[in-house]
Parts: sequence; structure tokens; C-alpha cells
Amino acid sequence: MQKIRYGIIGCGSMGREHIENIQALQATEVTAMADTHPESLAQAQALLKTPVPQFDNAQALLDSGLCDAVVVATPNFTHVDVLKQALRTDLHILAEKPLCTKVADAHALVEQARGRQALTWVAQEYRYMPPVAEMIRMAHAGAVGQIHQVSIREHREPFYPKVDDWNRFSENTGGTLVEKCCHYFNLMDFILGEHPVRVFASGEQRVNHLDERYNGRTPDILDSAYVIVEYPSGARAMLDLCMFGENSVDNEHIIVVGHEGKLESLLPSLTLRYGRREDWGTRKVWGRALGQRQRRVGAPGVGHQHQICGPALWRVLHRTPEVCPSRARGAARGGHP
Ligand SMILES: NC(=O)c1ccc[n+]([C@@H]2O[C@H](COP(=O)([O-])OP(=O)(O)OC[C@H]3O[C@@H](n4cnc5c(N)ncnc54)[C@H](O)[C@@H]3O)[C@@H](O)[C@H]2O)c1
Repeated sequence: MQKIRYGIIGCGSMGREHIENIQALQATEVTAMADTHPESLAQAQALLKTPVPQFDNAQALLDSGLCDAVVVATPNFTHVDVLKQALRTDLHILAEKPLCTKVADAHALVEQARGRQALTWVAQEYRYMPPVAEMIRMAHAGAVGQIHQVSIREHREPFYPKVDDWNRFSENTGGTLVEKCCHYFNLMDFILGEHPVRVFASGEQRVNHLDERYNGRTPDILDSAYVIVEYPSGARAMLDLCMFGENSVDNEHIIVVGHEGKLESLLPSLTLRYGRREDWGTRKVWGRALGQRQRRVGAPGVGHQHQICGPALWRVLHRTPEVCPSRARGAARGGHP
């Protein structure tokens, strides 16, 4: 099988994670990389058996002729310019989330991408995590009846350090609910098959990064929020975010409730729970509903989280529904937004 040649634009923590995932696949190779920060390039080259050509800007990589596909893993505020350049090529593109930080820029990119023959994809990979993917499959197959509620809780540690501390300011990230939570809003829409009509949100920077200073400025990113989203069908979704809640058994808990039952997936334990309301009103013993099932979906260490993006892109590029070799082998990766 001919190998797909990947160029990595942005070789920070996420770019390097993509490199490791691409290397774990059989039919892919990293053939070029670009970054404005020499240290990021050096760390990325160190992951490879043989160094590949490197560039200090995205355009040079795009012009190099060394790639079939590019992964854009630069800071959020740079996506719009890098993607405008990448979209002018006929290369396949995997753009890290969020697409960009401003709605108008997102519309412009979508317009520019229209009619392209090559794939243009944003890395909303939560839908491919094994228990979440199975939960969505079951929900869409009618396992819980009509879906009325989607509830997502993320209680986790604060944001990690990034190159030049770009993620400490909302103007660079789009704000916490865009930077971090675009995954969840994307999941809500995907599960419900609708787009919201109304959003209520309340959040604040209560605890994190308040004592940090960058060129005399204090970070302005939310660390906690509640969001309620209403959909045309009357279904509702809710997000509960806390980024000073690292003492959680599972950081992420996604719940789908319909009139016939309930599905839950928990990460990183890869737990999927399913129960139906068949016994409601007839039960003699109250407590756990009859028929509740719990199982682990996916191998431990796989699926949380970015491991899934590479395999999913691999399947699409190779036009095959087969599970990619790295996922079958179960190479483990961790997430670090
Ligand atoms: N899918 C996910 O769950 C997930 C998780 C983490 C991060 N991300 C996304 O990945 C992207 C990168 O995040 P990160 O954590 O790797 O940040 P990072 O700071 O670790 O790395 C960003 C890299 O991009 C480089 N860079 C900046 N401007 C550039 C430009 N114009 N051209 C080329 N390189 C440039 C920086 O020098 C740095 O090395 C962000 O969009 C982030 O939101 C996605």
C-alpha cells in the first residue's frame, strides 16, 4: 500500500502527538514539518527515526511537494491564516479544533473549502472515542427512544502551559468555551442531529491563573461554567465545566436520556452504561433499574483521546471502514489541551 505522506504544521504538544499517532499507523509517514519555534521542531524531529525536511513557516511546507496531507496544529488564533494558505492547495487537511476564533473567519474558511476535491476536516475527535462512538451509534439506532436530554460534565485540571503561553488569553483561544468545549457542543449537535436555537451560559475565572502575569497582563480565561442549549425539537443539552476539579475518577461524563432509556459514557475509563425504562412502574425492588448494562468499550489507554483522529483520517483517506493498525495494536496516548 502506498504510504500517505503527512506534513505537520505546528509541532507543539498536539503536533507531536499527531506525529506519534501517524507513526503508529502502517500506511502513513511524516515527511515534513513546519514551526516558527525552533525548540518545537527539535522536539518533533526527535520523535522520528530519520529527520525530515523542516521549515520555519507553513507556506514553505505547503510549497515543498513533500506531502499528501497536512495537519494544522498551530495556536487557535493562527488557524485562519494557515488554513487560508492550506486551502489553496489540493492537499488533504486535518485542522485542529477549534476551526478558528471568530465566527466570520469560520464562515470564510467554509466558503473557501467548498468544492475542494481533497478532504478538509476539523479534529472533533470525541465522536470517535470508543464508548462515545458506541453510545452515539446506539442512540441513533433508537436505544433510548426519542432523545430529550444530553448532559456533559467535564471536571478536570487547569489548562497546561503552551508555547508562548498563547492559551492564557481569550483573544488567542476564542475563550474557554470555544477552545475546550467546542468538542462538547459539537457532540451535542451531532447526537441530537439539530442545531441550537437558544443558549444560556454563565461562567467565570474563579480560581485558575489569577496569580500569573504575561507582559504585565493577567490571564482572562474562564475556569468554570454552566451552559444550557435548547434545540428546535425541544430537546435540551447541558454542559457543566470545572477546571479546578482534577480529583475526578472520570473527567468526562456524557449522558444521553430518551423516553425509553439512558446511555452514559465515561472517560478515560472507557465505560459505557445503558439502561432501559422497561421495568418502570412494575418494579418491586427500588434502586438500580433492571436491565442496566455496563461495559468497557475499547482497550485501556486507547481512545482518550487524540489517538482516534489519526485512525479516523486513515480510514477516510484509504476509503476503508477497517480499523487502522495502530488502533488494533492499542497504542496509548494521553490528551493535554
Ligand atoms: N483535538 C484536541 O483535543 C486538542 C487537544 C490539544 C490541543 N488542540 C489544538 O491543537 C492546536 C495546537 O495546540 P498545542 O497544544 O499543540 O499548542 P502548543 O503551544 O504546544 O504548540 C503550538 C505550536 O505551533 C507553533 N506555531 C505558532 N504559530 C505558528 C505558525 N504560524 N506556523 C507554524 N507554527 C506555528 C508554535 O511555535 C508551537 O510550537 C490548538 O489549536 C489546540 O486547540 C487540540
